[in-house]
Amino acid sequence: MGKIYNIAVIPGDGTGPEVIREGIKVLDATAPLFGFKLSYIYYDFGGERYLKTGEILPDNAISEFRKQDAIYLGAIGHPQVKPGILETGILLKTRFALDQYINLRPVKLYPNVETPLKDKTSEDIDFIVIRENTGGIYTGHGGATRIGTTEEIATQLMVYDRKTVDRCLKYAFELKKKRNQKSPKYADKPITLVHKRNVLLYCGDLWFRAFEEMGEKDYSDIKRDYNHVDAANMWFVKNPEWFDVVVTENLFGDIITDLGAMIQGGLGVAAGGNINPEGVSMFEPMGGSAPKYTGQNVINPMAAISAAMMMLDVLGETEASERIENAMVKVMQRMKSQSAGKMGFGTTEIGDMVAKEVTI
Ligand code: IPM
Ligand code: MN
Repeated sequence: MGKIYNIAVIPGDGTGPEVIREGIKVLDATAPLFGFKLSYIYYDFGGERYLKTGEILPDNAISEFRKQDAIYLGAIGHPQVKPGILETGILLKTRFALDQYINLRPVKLYPNVETPLKDKTSEDIDFIVIRENTGGIYTGHGGATRIGTTEEIATQLMVYDRKTVDRCLKYAFELKKKRNQKSPKYADKPITLVHKRNVLLYCGDLWFRAFEEMGEKDYSDIKRDYNHVDAANMWFVKNPEWFDVVVTENLFGDIITDLGAMIQGGLGVAAGGNINPEGVSMFEPMGGSAPKYTGQNVINPMAAISAAMMMLDVLGETEASERIENAMVKVMQRMKSQSAGKMGFGTTEIGDMVAKEVTI
């Protein structure tokens, strides 16, 4: 009997459920072809549930997630809920509780997908950002005093320890090693550390030394490069072809991957994985809940399908994942645009088309 993967599905808010439905459609079309099964448990966490019950993400849900093989998340964010509550209460809580210390964000421009970068093609834009996902400013260290007075003080600390840095770098180097073996076009390029070590003397130095030491000792045949984060933003736009694997700390990774999402064709296509290589990972389209498009069948499900594709890859179903990617590429070639409402097809039609291509 084939393998069964248990997936926790959190469709979430706004257009989340619509895009997740299409992702599941594609997964279900793919699994039987490769002799495995997917079994889903749905969770209604998100803005609606919070407004009705006050509950965000109870601890027992985390315990249930631990028993699954992966989590598939749509989008979190509700216009009637104050910003921050759901983001920290659901997304960040899950990342931290399940120690999903890698945020894997491919920046890959597929053929026929429009990029705002003039003269750049899918040949030029094909890299992956490894964003450290459990440390840095996101740890919530800091505080505020004299709140509400003119003497108010607030601090928010960037916290890193060597182990957290090392495990992230190791993942990045291992990924780079794999890509180098895949193609000389990757092997010619360096792994790039992004930080701000000209100003962040302590954290920057920790990352830089750890990067150099690990590179020198265990991956001496891999080329290394370093960019300050502000310059990296500039090069992402001007020379994206320089990059292959980019590794960086949490907040910088958050910022540069929104830029990455734009140059690969926007939030309609960009997806990410919150990975615990030894545990349960969570996959999501990078876009938000896009409330204004809810229920209109105009949102692009490609990013959610791409998240599903990444999920299969991380679960070890690499061939199935590649089949989905090829199907996506074919369907993207028929689409007019990757932006909501301009695709030339509806949300469900695109899901149908990818699901069909998978089987051909
Ligand atoms: C992301 C988001 C989150 C982050 C927010 C919603 C907490 O921007 O996944 O990039 O900052 O990590
Ligand atoms: Mn972000």
